[in-house]
Amino acid sequence: MSIRYLEKERIFWLDTPNTTYLLGIVAQEGFLGHLYYGKKLEDVTGAETLLRTSEPPYVPEKNDRDRSSFFDAFPFEYASHGVGDFRESSLKIRTGRGHEAVSLVYLKHEIRRGKGKLSGLPATFGTESDVTTLLITCVDPVTKIEAELSYSTFERVDAIARSVRIKNGSADPVWVEKVMSACLDMEGKEFDVLSLHGSWARERQMERKPLGHGIYSVGSLRGESSHQEHPFLGILSKNADQTSGEVYGFHFVYSGNFLAQAQRNQFGQVRVQMGIHPEAFSWKLASGESFQAPEVILTYSAEGLGGMSRSLHDLYLNHLIRSPWLHQKRPVLINNWEATYFDFTAEKILDIARESAKLGIEMLVLDDGWFGNRFDDNRSLGDWWVNEEKLRGGLGKLVSEINALGMKFGLWFEPEMISPESRLYEEHPDWAIQIPGRRACRARNQFVLDVSRGDVRDYILRQMFAVLHSANVEYVKWDMNRPLSDLGSADLPADRQGELSHRYVLGMYEMQERLLAEFPNLLLENCSGGGGRFDPGMLYFSPQIWCSDDTDAIERLGIQEGTALLYPLSCMGAHVSVCPNHTVGRTTPFSTRGMTALAGTFGYELDVTKLSEEDKAAVPKQIRAYHAYSDLIREGVYYRIASARETRDYDCFQVTDRGGRKSLVFFTQVLATPNMKSRCIPLQGLKKDAKYRIWQVNLDKEQMLTDTGKVASGAVLMNAGMILERPWGDFQGRLLYLEEI
Ligand code: DGJ
Repeated sequence: MSIRYLEKERIFWLDTPNTTYLLGIVAQEGFLGHLYYGKKLEDVTGAETLLRTSEPPYVPEKNDRDRSSFFDAFPFEYASHGVGDFRESSLKIRTGRGHEAVSLVYLKHEIRRGKGKLSGLPATFGTESDVTTLLITCVDPVTKIEAELSYSTFERVDAIARSVRIKNGSADPVWVEKVMSACLDMEGKEFDVLSLHGSWARERQMERKPLGHGIYSVGSLRGESSHQEHPFLGILSKNADQTSGEVYGFHFVYSGNFLAQAQRNQFGQVRVQMGIHPEAFSWKLASGESFQAPEVILTYSAEGLGGMSRSLHDLYLNHLIRSPWLHQKRPVLINNWEATYFDFTAEKILDIARESAKLGIEMLVLDDGWFGNRFDDNRSLGDWWVNEEKLRGGLGKLVSEINALGMKFGLWFEPEMISPESRLYEEHPDWAIQIPGRRACRARNQFVLDVSRGDVRDYILRQMFAVLHSANVEYVKWDMNRPLSDLGSADLPADRQGELSHRYVLGMYEMQERLLAEFPNLLLENCSGGGGRFDPGMLYFSPQIWCSDDTDAIERLGIQEGTALLYPLSCMGAHVSVCPNHTVGRTTPFSTRGMTALAGTFGYELDVTKLSEEDKAAVPKQIRAYHAYSDLIREGVYYRIASARETRDYDCFQVTDRGGRKSLVFFTQVLATPNMKSRCIPLQGLKKDAKYRIWQVNLDKEQMLTDTGKVASGAVLMNAGMILERPWGDFQGRLLYLEEI
């Protein structure tokens, strides 16, 4: 088993293939302390001394004089609140008398094979042979609050899943005011922090900075994981780069409000925490009731950021995404959003489908605007019946005609919303999230539906199911276009209003679960105004998520780099669109757009009937490359070679099959540079003693592969590099294919 308890030393010893995590119990008082997380240790003799319980101020049982310095410095495994540790706490409970202090001590533990589900929440999973779980129950002897700390280790992936369940063991109700899912206290090395920031159409941009004293935090209070900050925190050694140095990654399997923070204290110690954002959160627990906090993934890499990315990719591909589509080639789709926006009829959609089918496109996705009175984005959300003024003859007829062309059909929904101008709102104004007496914010002229309510969920799902059963719909895009604000639920009593944001997320998860239970083979793509809810929680339901509304190939380099830092390429919704690009106005070559989309799910989002003959002729060539390489891209191993953020003029990454025999190199010359013919790019992930032939992949020529005539050993390609002729001009993509000979 990869988890052991050393009785004499009172140490829990957790191993993954290349890492070790140690925590221990302080003998006298029973505090749980963190000892170590890092490179695998084969022998942990003496590790208990890391708690330093015999050295002032670390003498809990006899240090009344220095008690607060003990709390100030002790590496708590899960931090207490209000009793002298003045760093950020992990748990805050308000009792009926208004007190908030919590101090937890060890009560019991259990080590199990496998991993239980987290009630109502997405979480990683595994069989009894590939996951082991440690459950430690701690208790506050005064309030009788219990915290069950859960740690699951994976046999084949360097990741640990942590979560916490809080139980009210007292006779009276209490309110959980803050519950972090994971806390990690580390000794005082110098670190950098890495986070992903963004905005609509500019999601997941990497930002690295030194971690100074005080607190660095990122979070969301938008009710979704958000475009703006991502539920991820990286803690990096100063020398960490793509291939070397130490990297700790923390990633939250949750899709609502979150807080991720790193705090450096007076002694240089660092406390990292991640959990539901305590602001706008309060949860009432009656006597005997429990609260399950979502899961945090911890990963440690001694091989830089690349090692962290690959561990997370492996974890999500093997232990998080459940869709039957996970290992299947996804149909090449065409989405009508950028082609028509709201202005379409069945005939127009059929025109697009007819032309698409001729070019080899396999599925048509009808986006926003097919229902109610939805002629623009000001109305009708919640009225999920077909607008027959646009779709004459109904949805069934349209879908049959599209199927007759040999294409599948997909449909857009925004199930969590309600327009003030809708039949639904006329009938149920109290179903919108808002505060009585306060004019609620109408972002995109819509309110958020209170899906914390069972009756609301039932109603919306009934409507969705009726539409989906009425025609052969094989794909659903589930969108969510505004954040939560004006938090008020007509259904919750006053002392439970603070539960709304989390109940909302649980309700949304339940809806997705029921949708998939009703349509088990559905290909579900999540979306939130682009990539505003791209997180591991949503991946539990959908194998792919729309990455960003920005489809510009150059903007996508940074967005997809930040996304691929954590997620497999097969999760990233990516489409070829027209130029000038609708978001940034940039014109890029059609082949560069094709190459960028190939590094994701691959599809089109344009009016194919209006494409130039030259671009139209390139579509089947791009699709040919998709068929040739989608298995490699979907199942392969990702290596980031260079980032335009750092090089300023080019971007490069690689996908290699698991045996290191084949590899695709994606290179984009963002800006032309003068006086330079070629560039030497060191590759990764190859076999050092194998020889590789190098081809250029053509996305616009009759012949797909051009032999470059070059053959090189893995050793040369990885250590010295591959010479790559610089393409001429700005925004030029070049795709190379290497195969062992
Ligand atoms: C936001 C999505 O990201 C777009 O792709 C599109 O579906 C629109 N919503 C439709 O309103």
